[in-house]
Amino acid sequence: MSGDAKSEAARRRTFAVISHPDAGKSTLTEALALHAQAITSAGAVHGKSGRRGVASDWMEMEKARGISVTSAVMQFEHQGVVLNLLDTPGHADFSEDTYRVLAAVDCAVMLIDAAKGLEEQTRKLFDVCRHRGVPVITFINKWDRPGREALELLDEIEREFRLKPTPVTWPVGMAGHLRGMVDVRDQDQMLRYTRAPGGAKEAVEETVSAERAAAEEGADWVQATEELDLLRETGGVHDPEEFLAGKTTPVFFGAAVSNIGVRLLLDAVVDMAPAPAPRELEGGGERPVDAPFSGLVFKVQANMDRSHRDRIAFVRVCSGVFERGMTVKQAATGRPFATKYAHSVFGQDRTSVETAYPGDVVGLVNAAALRVGDTLYTERRAVFPPMPTFAPEHFAVVRPVDIGRSKQFRRGIAQLDEEGVVQVLVSDRRGDQAPVLAAVGPMQFDVVKHRMENEFTAPVRLDPLAYSTARATDLEGADALNRSRLVHGEAMLRVRDSAWLGLFPSRWHVSSFEREFPDLPLETLIAAH
Ligand code: G4P
Repeated sequence: MSGDAKSEAARRRTFAVISHPDAGKSTLTEALALHAQAITSAGAVHGKSGRRGVASDWMEMEKARGISVTSAVMQFEHQGVVLNLLDTPGHADFSEDTYRVLAAVDCAVMLIDAAKGLEEQTRKLFDVCRHRGVPVITFINKWDRPGREALELLDEIEREFRLKPTPVTWPVGMAGHLRGMVDVRDQDQMLRYTRAPGGAKEAVEETVSAERAAAEEGADWVQATEELDLLRETGGVHDPEEFLAGKTTPVFFGAAVSNIGVRLLLDAVVDMAPAPAPRELEGGGERPVDAPFSGLVFKVQANMDRSHRDRIAFVRVCSGVFERGMTVKQAATGRPFATKYAHSVFGQDRTSVETAYPGDVVGLVNAAALRVGDTLYTERRAVFPPMPTFAPEHFAVVRPVDIGRSKQFRRGIAQLDEEGVVQVLVSDRRGDQAPVLAAVGPMQFDVVKHRMENEFTAPVRLDPLAYSTARATDLEGADALNRSRLVHGEAMLRVRDSAWLGLFPSRWHVSSFEREFPDLPLETLIAAH
């Protein structure tokens, strides 16, 4: 064994970058990996086609749309600390997937486009972080081109997120005229950047004394120092406790495309982001990082690429030391699971993992029995709280185009359900040849169509249903729903966890149903929109 869980956990930082699409997440991820020493040479950065080092776009559809549908994991080292960067899908339709990824990280970097400020998806992702108590570091990107005023952006964060920004770096020169950066903790100097063309190389960084900066940068330096004075007066100073409590966010400025400000951000993740901590258990108590092995399955993915037609469960190690080949127990079933095939998964590349520590992510191959939200453990039993599901708002009946391929159809739908690509609902009325798919966003349906055709060779037809709202209910509620003519409701048995869901055409119908049956429980699910 190459280290003990406690000391190895202490030198781990597991984080995700959250942003609205196009804010520069792929660019930043790549820049972070460039600065740090990537542990594997996989070049696993997500990105759009054509960019160097892009390896994780595994689906044609994903490439065509230029968005990342799946989440990859990257591991690299900086200042002797092992960084695990979990990618989050940026598209709104995949917020449920994102939610699961955020259950597996200890910190998030919120990326904001300097010109656009807080965008819709940033808000949603931030809400998820807040809900999960994940502390947030902010990186204001694209400072190399015209954008909004730095102070105005900070105001927006404070006003809209009730999160006090505590800038750690401050730009010299407004957006579009970036001259350099001042580290707020050391204002006697400025880091001056000379941008490298094309973003292929790190920007040339030069340390310049305050006197020299004042002489050479003129009005830009004066403005920056005035703004810094103002910040000091208003108390926007980084305080580790307040940051970890989710009350403040350290703010960095930069331009990922030119690698500007990226090293400072990386340093901050090492210095400020929390190391893996004891994890809360279902029913109270927590599992210390040096307890026997435990891990959380936060993502299950099949057929990540054609040369490996198998199924991978991504497990975040929460406590203890994971060693390949060990037999772990699945908390939900109590069954043993042999981890002979454990990999680190970087896009399409895989390497065997021999040992992993708290904060690390391992991909367990051929993990047919594992489900998202499962806890794995050795020795002392551990169960982590279940992952909440989002309220679906789109519903469609799915049928095989070719009835002769029913077997493949059933297998494919079951697989996608287990992965959490969509929720699959079955009612007595419809049977399992025509289940109802429920999605947070309509793009999930496109993924289903694509994968059913390409992976399971069972093309499907989707017929949208005119429901837009779901409420969790119980057997009695389901019965009432099926009887109620008033709301044209439909009660579904959700296969996976046997929960009843009531489907309604609109919120108005929910209200009228509640008036008709005031004693029945209708539970609101977490709204994704
Ligand atoms: P995403 O993963 O968040 O969707 O964003 P991505 O990194 O793909 O970046 C979106 C666009 O923003 C890209 O331009 C990228 O080059 C650009 N970008 C990212 N960071 C910066 C920055 O710091 N400054 C400037 N000026 N631009 C930045 P694109 O034209 O869509 O793609 P590409 O052809 O440049 O790859």
